[in-house]
Amino acid sequence: MKTLCAFLLGLLTVPSLAADLTGNWAVSDPLPDGTLRTTYLDLHQESSRITGTIRTGQFYYKIVESTGGPDGFTLTGKMMDGTSERRVKYEGKLVGEELHVATRRRPDADLIEMVAHRAPPGEGVYPARQPLPALHKVPDNGLARTPPMGWNSWNKFAGRVDDTGVRGMADAMAANGMKEAGYQYINIDDTWEAGRDAHGNITTNKKFPDMKALADYVHSKDLKIGIYSSPGPNTCAGYEGSYGHEEQDARTYAAWGIDYLKYDWCGARNLYTDEEMRAVYQMMGDALLKAGRPIVYSLCQYGRADVWKWGADVGGNAWRTTGDIRDTWDSMTKIGFAQDELAPWAAPGHWNDPDMLEIGNGGMSDDEYRTHMSLWAILAAPLLAGNDLRNMSTAILEILTNREVIAVNQDKAGRQGRRISKSGDQEVWARPLFDGGQAIGLFNRGSAPTQITVRWSDAGLQTAPRRARDLWGHSDMKLDGAEYSVTVPAHGVVLLRVPI
Ligand code: GLA
Repeated sequence: MKTLCAFLLGLLTVPSLAADLTGNWAVSDPLPDGTLRTTYLDLHQESSRITGTIRTGQFYYKIVESTGGPDGFTLTGKMMDGTSERRVKYEGKLVGEELHVATRRRPDADLIEMVAHRAPPGEGVYPARQPLPALHKVPDNGLARTPPMGWNSWNKFAGRVDDTGVRGMADAMAANGMKEAGYQYINIDDTWEAGRDAHGNITTNKKFPDMKALADYVHSKDLKIGIYSSPGPNTCAGYEGSYGHEEQDARTYAAWGIDYLKYDWCGARNLYTDEEMRAVYQMMGDALLKAGRPIVYSLCQYGRADVWKWGADVGGNAWRTTGDIRDTWDSMTKIGFAQDELAPWAAPGHWNDPDMLEIGNGGMSDDEYRTHMSLWAILAAPLLAGNDLRNMSTAILEILTNREVIAVNQDKAGRQGRRISKSGDQEVWARPLFDGGQAIGLFNRGSAPTQITVRWSDAGLQTAPRRARDLWGHSDMKLDGAEYSVTVPAHGVVLLRVPI
């Protein structure tokens, strides 16, 4: 009788147990660089309700809504990104021992289908929040007395950056006149990371067989080398971040010979609020100093939490002031012309960073790229070329290496320029220079050539200057009167240097 009951009970319960979604489900995508991109769905099913978490790349969602069950379900995950909420939807069903799921990266994107398998409980579990240090002022590292100049891989190459490419950029920079013009750093952005070895040391993926050898190579060209990481467990592209390994990673960078670190918030948003950013960034500021090698520290957290007010206090040499730039006139101008009010926060060693250059990437005209370069010069912004240095037109090389424009960017007084007048699509900006002179940019944001006038009194000049230098025309000009008018091409600029 007992056995019969157990058998009957078994008939009732076994099918529902077998069809239970509860478990840690993992699906791994092998990437060409030898790393795995694993998504974990850690699910808990209680009758018709599914709870749990979804971890994918830099994102970590808590499941807040569900419908259905093993034969067909939907899940909604939610996470906070600062003060904004981000949601994701998965749909799926259990097929034997496989969990078939599908999701979209954006609501309008194609459905991505995946097959997940059971993983051991705890695998891929999101790390616990580590306590934050008390705030203090990190001593100045003495670097970047003028805005850093160099190259960064992201804008052009994103995940396709590799050792060969980086060596090629160093060769190009050393040979094409950029080095002589002041460019120095060759910066590897996201996607160089593999994971950690048994001792917790960060390792490189297949694209970077030997980071120390690469750094030696770049140094042999009399250039410097930069790298990228995140204070979170994962970088923006989902690679290994420095979370919980800050000092160890700083020591590794120093041992490799790294000279510059871009430290990108991304994965840290799952653990900390924007108000906590300062303490999080301070940890790496301290770690870099402790590692004992001069390493430029570049903060990348998209200008949140008024970073310009505390970036220098965490040891930052530069801080991004905006979201990512794209190679379009709209993106570049939206960012560049919105920097006016941040001017008081720029100073030698500590720069507002409106993001890297797109010059030469093909999405803008040469006039538009001259506007980009002129604006970044007036803004005292880091000049990190983002194009393929091995392969660019003479016009683009001339824009990037215009010494007179670079001299404005690198002016040793380190004062950021400001908008001094605006009328519709016409803007005039001025940057005070160490010698008492000024750089004056007459910008035409409109789509037809137009005449723009600068009144010298708007630039704070008591007496009208008698001469000026045209920094794109490379010519001296005579001036007369209280103002100067010039026709500026569509989306173009006239950049002048007026003496005291
Ligand atoms: C963020 C940064 C970019 C780049 C990518 C890399 O989006 O803002 O500049 O570093 O991450 O994943």
